[in-house]
Amino acid sequence: MAPRTWVVACVLFSGVSILSTAQPPPEISNSFCKIFWLLGVPCGDVNVALVSGLKGKQSYKLGVVTPAQILANHTSAVGQVENLNFTLAPTAMTTGCHVAASSVSPFSFSLFDNGTNYCNLHRVMKGSGLTKSPGFMEFSNEWLCLGYGVSVCK
Ligand SMILES: *[C@@H]1O[C@H](CO)[C@@H](O)[C@H](O)[C@H]1NC(C)=O
Ligand SMILES: *[C@@H]1O[C@H](CO)[C@@H](O)[C@H](O)[C@H]1NC(C)=O
Ligand SMILES: *[C@@H]1O[C@H](CO)[C@@H](O)[C@H](O)[C@H]1NC(C)=O
Repeated sequence: MAPRTWVVACVLFSGVSILSTAQPPPEISNSFCKIFWLLGVPCGDVNVALVSGLKGKQSYKLGVVTPAQILANHTSAVGQVENLNFTLAPTAMTTGCHVAASSVSPFSFSLFDNGTNYCNLHRVMKGSGLTKSPGFMEFSNEWLCLGYGVSVCK
């Protein structure tokens, strides 16, 4: 093999092993969704919008709120409670905000949870109006977030 082909092959193989080890073993993991958002809005404003978005929804229960963290619970139609965690950090270069959000179901009673955890987070972001804010970007993938990309949130 030419050296260049070899390097490409190595990169491909290491990429495959990283991806397969990143996949959590279904039998020991709870179902969860992790999302990262970037917004061109100061974290203080993001915090206020997320908190009022959570307060306005009946199935959500607001927990501890600090400038850097918002905790909440969501109760699904099936009576399951998911724990939500929004962690806010100012971006280095601009007056923007980086938000790491997670929704975790205590039970993995369904490997594919129909996007419950994704929709828990997406609904709050959408309801707060922040998805329309300047520079809004959402990052995740199907290993970080069950049902990501296929979920249709009601
Ligand atoms: C959310 O649920 C956890 C347990 O899953 C509980 O410890 C916590 O107090 C709940 N928070 C609220 C605001 O209900
Ligand atoms: C919330 O998420 C942050 C960042 O991942 C973590 O440091 C913190 O411990 C979490 N808090 C809870 C109560 O899960
Ligand atoms: C997911 O959807 C299927 C089909 O609509 C349903 O049978 C199943 O109970 C749902 N699972 C959860 C965890 O909501």
